[in-house]
Amino acid sequence: MNDLIRFDHVTLGYRRRAVLRELRFAIGAGEFFGIVGANGSGKTTILRALLGILRPLSGNVLARVEPGESESLPDGGWFDLCASPGALRFGYVPQRGFLDDIYPLRVFDITMMGRYGALGFLARPGARDRQLVEQSLAHVGLAELAGRRYADLSGGQKQRVLIARALASEARVLVLDEPTDGMDIEGRCGILDLICRLRTELGVTVVFVTHHLNELSNAAQRLLLLHEGTMQIGTADEILTSAVLERVYGVPVRVEQFDGKRVVLT
Ligand SMILES: Nc1ncnc2c1ncn2[C@@H]1O[C@H](COP(=O)(O)OP(=O)(O)OP(=O)(O)O)[C@@H](O)[C@H]1O
Ligand SMILES: [Mg+2]
Repeated sequence: MNDLIRFDHVTLGYRRRAVLRELRFAIGAGEFFGIVGANGSGKTTILRALLGILRPLSGNVLARVEPGESESLPDGGWFDLCASPGALRFGYVPQRGFLDDIYPLRVFDITMMGRYGALGFLARPGARDRQLVEQSLAHVGLAELAGRRYADLSGGQKQRVLIARALASEARVLVLDEPTDGMDIEGRCGILDLICRLRTELGVTVVFVTHHLNELSNAAQRLLLLHEGTMQIGTADEILTSAVLERVYGVPVRVEQFDGKRVVLT
């Protein structure tokens, strides 16, 4: 797997106060990359740096362009994400609830928001934009609901619309910040299955943030585990062991197999 994104000795923080120091890791092209940690451990901070919204206090967040992908960037070279925003297309799925107030909008309109970056301010969507919106809704299984009011959907359906909106931007990287927060177990599994399917079918890279270790214990290929300023990174097999988790959390942890799946018990 080729690396697509690289955190190169990155220290992140706010107003010169460091939250995470010396982050060093890469995210592979097409990988399912999980970021796990308790409230306030810095998960969203890492996503902000990834999206080029938060400039590192030191170090660089780099991404690689595929040959022929960009006219202004060198083929196969690394570029700084803060310096070249938009050079790598991210589809960001924010935490649930942030759009509920946009009351009268329909599912189609919300998904069309994913096209705004490409369209520019106040430009009218064309046939291709509408087609991309329809395709994206079909990918998340909501083609039938395009004309419905967003506010009238269930939590799980709303989340699918936000995923469609991210896909409509023709994202190469899907970035999801606690996308299953507040959902029941069925809703959680549905969203996770959907993300796994989109990754295989569309070849998108997935960066998935959650505070539930078990949510990603079987889906993510690699995990970045944040805990009180420390960071562990490795494959799910390397991170999800009682030895590593007990060292990180300081409490007894067991990792068991249940129905062919890995379950972390604390
Ligand atoms: N805009 C900001 N200004 C100052 N400090 C901030 C800002 N945003 C976050 N922080 C601080 O940075 C640290 C990490 O916050 P962050 O939001 O990245 O955590 P998180 O892991 O996403 O938490 P949660 O699970 O609650 O979403 C916290 O101590 C937080 O108080
Ligand atoms: Mg957060």
